[in-house]
Amino acid sequence: MRKCTTGRLDKVPPSGIRKFFDLIAGMEGVISMGVGEPDFSTPWNITEAAIRSLEQGFTMYTSNAGMPELRKELSAYLKRTYGLEYDPNTELLITNGVSEGLDLAVRAILDPGDEVIMPDPGYVAYPATVLLADGVPVQVPTYCENGFRLSGNDVRDAVTGRTKAILIGYPANPTGAVMEMDRLAEIAEVAQKRRLLVISDEIYSLLVYDMKPACFAALPGMKDHTILLGGFSKAFAMTGWRIGYAAARREIIAGMTKIHQYTALSSPTMGQVAALEALRSGEAEAQKMIEEYDRRRRVIVKGLNDIGLSCFEPKGAFYAFPSIKVTGMTSEEFAESLLLEEKVAVVHGNAFGPSGEGYVRCCYATSMQNIEEALERMARFVQRHRQV
Ligand SMILES: Cc1ncc(COP(=O)(O)O)c(C=O)c1O
Repeated sequence: MRKCTTGRLDKVPPSGIRKFFDLIAGMEGVISMGVGEPDFSTPWNITEAAIRSLEQGFTMYTSNAGMPELRKELSAYLKRTYGLEYDPNTELLITNGVSEGLDLAVRAILDPGDEVIMPDPGYVAYPATVLLADGVPVQVPTYCENGFRLSGNDVRDAVTGRTKAILIGYPANPTGAVMEMDRLAEIAEVAQKRRLLVISDEIYSLLVYDMKPACFAALPGMKDHTILLGGFSKAFAMTGWRIGYAAARREIIAGMTKIHQYTALSSPTMGQVAALEALRSGEAEAQKMIEEYDRRRRVIVKGLNDIGLSCFEPKGAFYAFPSIKVTGMTSEEFAESLLLEEKVAVVHGNAFGPSGEGYVRCCYATSMQNIEEALERMARFVQRHRQV
């Protein structure tokens, strides 16, 4: 029978995470540190604003680029937070989460065969999205010893005549790594010299501990060469509302909007109303959640180190990424055995790229009680399997 799906799909491996979650389905008593999403509900004032808008019958499409009030508020937010000026009419686009923003960005800028440099390990959607746009992902290894940060030299060495863009995402999933402004400046220097675009996924930008949020586009000269992707899912506990945004120079936003208007038309109206409220009054509630993640971060990092799973200190997002080398297992063996023997779900590091081998991702967006119980179970597991 004639193959009914495009060959493009064959280039994208099935998500390693999906396979693992199929295993969990149906198991009872599992503590999940697997899924990367807030365990909080959306702050009530945000939800209430959306409910009010529904009651008032505000259920139509919005303009393709998103509600003008939301773009205006977003523009003011980016100005007061990072000093960046984006024209709400031509340089901002409201998307269905960073997920859609990323897809639009690569589809708007890549020609077939264009290469995109990205850190390894990295968010699972980065290589997949580039492949689906007929681009070539170039994964550059990063190491625990360097805080899982990408250096200017690493990027320089990976650039070829086909490189179109560098895709970074700090604070990072799965490592929790952050990049300070001077480190980001190294990447900016390469981008400027080699005339590359930078796609900066800043979905976790507000979730930073002991430091201030950083924005790549705020580096000198980088605003016009950066596609800034941001969103509401993580910091405001709004994963299901599906709202994100892209900020970039006019031609890029026009290109992204062209795709968005045909494939999505507009982002969810109720979600946009909620996002507007988040920008207007959500920061205090977001701050409370960040403080709670920070408390959990300290407990989990200490706990993992105490039981022999050496863990680098994540400075952002809500993931711990401990080394499992003491067990001599591969990360898949570790995650599967831990689940079957102790009913704790973590994600095997190689799901995020080859350099994630030897690590597992533990999401600490779960209750302190769950974290403490999971650490006890993991301690028993490591004691049984420790090889060195
Ligand atoms: C690094 C990173 N970028 C983007 C996303 C997707 O965000 P959104 O919900 O805005 O589509 C995630 C979700 O886990 C993520 O970890």
